[in-house]
Amino acid sequence: MYLFRLVCRHKMALSIGTVCSFVVVLVFLAHCTSETLNRADEDPPGLAPRADALQSHPEHRDAPSRSKDLSAFLVVLITTGPKYTERRSIIRSTWLAKRDADVLALFVVGTQALSDEDLQNLNTEQGRHKDLLLLPDLQDSYENLTVKLLHMYSWLDLNVDFRFVLKADDDTFARLDLLKEELKVKEPKRLYWGFFSGRGRVKTGGKWRETFWDLCDYYIPYALGGGYILSADLVHYVHLNAAYLKTWQSEDVSLGAWLAPVDVRRTHDPRFDTEYKSRGCNNKYLVTHKQSLEDMLEKHQTLQRDSRLCKAEVKLRLSYVYDWSVPPSQCCQRKDGIP
Ligand SMILES: *[C@@H]1O[C@H](CO)[C@@H](O)[C@H](O)[C@H]1NC(C)=O
Repeated sequence: MYLFRLVCRHKMALSIGTVCSFVVVLVFLAHCTSETLNRADEDPPGLAPRADALQSHPEHRDAPSRSKDLSAFLVVLITTGPKYTERRSIIRSTWLAKRDADVLALFVVGTQALSDEDLQNLNTEQGRHKDLLLLPDLQDSYENLTVKLLHMYSWLDLNVDFRFVLKADDDTFARLDLLKEELKVKEPKRLYWGFFSGRGRVKTGGKWRETFWDLCDYYIPYALGGGYILSADLVHYVHLNAAYLKTWQSEDVSLGAWLAPVDVRRTHDPRFDTEYKSRGCNNKYLVTHKQSLEDMLEKHQTLQRDSRLCKAEVKLRLSYVYDWSVPPSQCCQRKDGIP
């Protein structure tokens, strides 16, 4: 095991030339352990490896990686709570309907400490649809979302042979056909694709409060959580380092920080409408967030009927193209003419 030390110096020129610098010291396992985590072999398909399997890295050995049970070009992992049966049902019958055979879509739910009734309902739902990824070592709560992300990426790395993964919420609507088209011509490595923010002020109150963020005045540039895509190698990286990673409150902020020292292609795309509220409806959108059940039904019907996403295009707020040539605090100037 080697320790890798990264010193990141980050300067932000604010209006009157204030300079902020910070040092991130990141320690991670640089020595790749074998993908073989024995515990996972005992788990039935559809169940996650136990949390202790995530923590224990077996001694390095040169064994070939074990063959994985499942394979897919694109995996869609939708985080959802135990009780949101109706949301899952609408998603199944709208944007997941008629998807290609090489797209694997799973709803992710933590089942630790669930009531018998909730468990029974989930088992019935699983029996019918076989599309739940049940994580028995995770208590499903808003506070545990970042841990949930670690569990689901670790499960994915261990159990599925795949190229890309879309992480979505249960109020996200995505155009899987178009995403696949674009992914087919993208290099399946080091890809971190979504709608980025580099000037996210650290939240001191409310639902998104971050009590333990002390790396900088802002969050590290990250793709907003309503939907983003990673290539499989980055999921592997997160899994390998899972035991070392700090979990902040927000899962998307955490992922941005975990990938900070990694040589990734941060691909900003305004066609990801994944902010905390939707920018409206634009026919170019690949992913759109904060959709009610009615919104999803309407978009699906409009797609079926008119081959476009929006009944009428609406712009509720301006969008931006991320400028990587300036300090992150100036990255994201909203302008007209961007979806
Ligand atoms: C988070 O998950 C852990 C393990 O499942 C559990 O012990 C803890 O109570 C959970 N925290 C919250 C706030 O639900």
